[in-house]
Amino acid sequence: MQCNCATVVSAEECSLRPELEQHQEHIEMLDKIEPPQPSRIELEGFKRFSESLLWKLMRSFYDRQGALAWARGIVPHFITTNSFNSKAYTRVLQGFLADTARPCASESPMTQHLKFNPKEKFYIIELGAGSGKFSFLMLKALQDMRHLDFPLDNMVYVLTDFTQSNVKFWKGHPSLQPFLETGQLDFAIFDAEKDDEIRLCNSGVVLCPRRPTANPICVIANYLFDTLCQDIFQVYNGGLSQVRK
Ligand SMILES: C[S@@+](CC[C@H](N)C(=O)[O-])C[C@H]1O[C@@H](n2cnc3c(N)ncnc32)[C@H](O)[C@@H]1O
Repeated sequence: MQCNCATVVSAEECSLRPELEQHQEHIEMLDKIEPPQPSRIELEGFKRFSESLLWKLMRSFYDRQGALAWARGIVPHFITTNSFNSKAYTRVLQGFLADTARPCASESPMTQHLKFNPKEKFYIIELGAGSGKFSFLMLKALQDMRHLDFPLDNMVYVLTDFTQSNVKFWKGHPSLQPFLETGQLDFAIFDAEKDDEIRLCNSGVVLCPRRPTANPICVIANYLFDTLCQDIFQVYNGGLSQVRK
């Protein structure tokens, strides 16, 4: 039986050989053809990093994509936007509030100017909040916190971003509605590179240096600074030199 099979195979091999040889020739021919090179276009020459086109392109990307930048997985986010991280941030906030509430806080140079009035609003402002997922997880983590030295009802978590596309997305997101209704959440447009005031969409409150708030403000910037326009410097031969990109 085995013998017969072997005979049949070798007969097939014989009949296929010319085709295989031709196929092989085709492969060799294709190997010799140079693959087409993608054409490269120089967008700009070397220049100061902060003046690079890169920043304009990046802003335009976030503006055009809105929440799709995250939904399509273009911007990596699980590593920065997860419940472990939001709980860790919340514990830092808890520790900060506890430090300022200690009886000896007024004696320490670090905390003596940080006095909280629990009857006034305490604003937590998140810059470049993107999809708002991290903010939602923060709000949940704050809700679940057993002890906070400040009443949750008077905390206002403010989601901000430079682009209206993200603010529009947050406004329509059902998971954020319950927090909006209790006044624990508000939204604002804020460009961290140039704006110096924050006008809250729902309450209409304006936060700016000219109108100091009753309580200190807490600012959160999660995975933001690499997105803000900057220059690069290098220590070279004992001196500081600017890097051009
Ligand atoms: C890398 S994403 C991070 C988003 C979110 N914080 C997170 O952790 O997933 C950077 C965010 O910063 C925003 N952004 C970029 N430039 C900004 C600027 N000048 N001011 C405020 N937000 C800015 C973008 O729209 C985007 O939502």
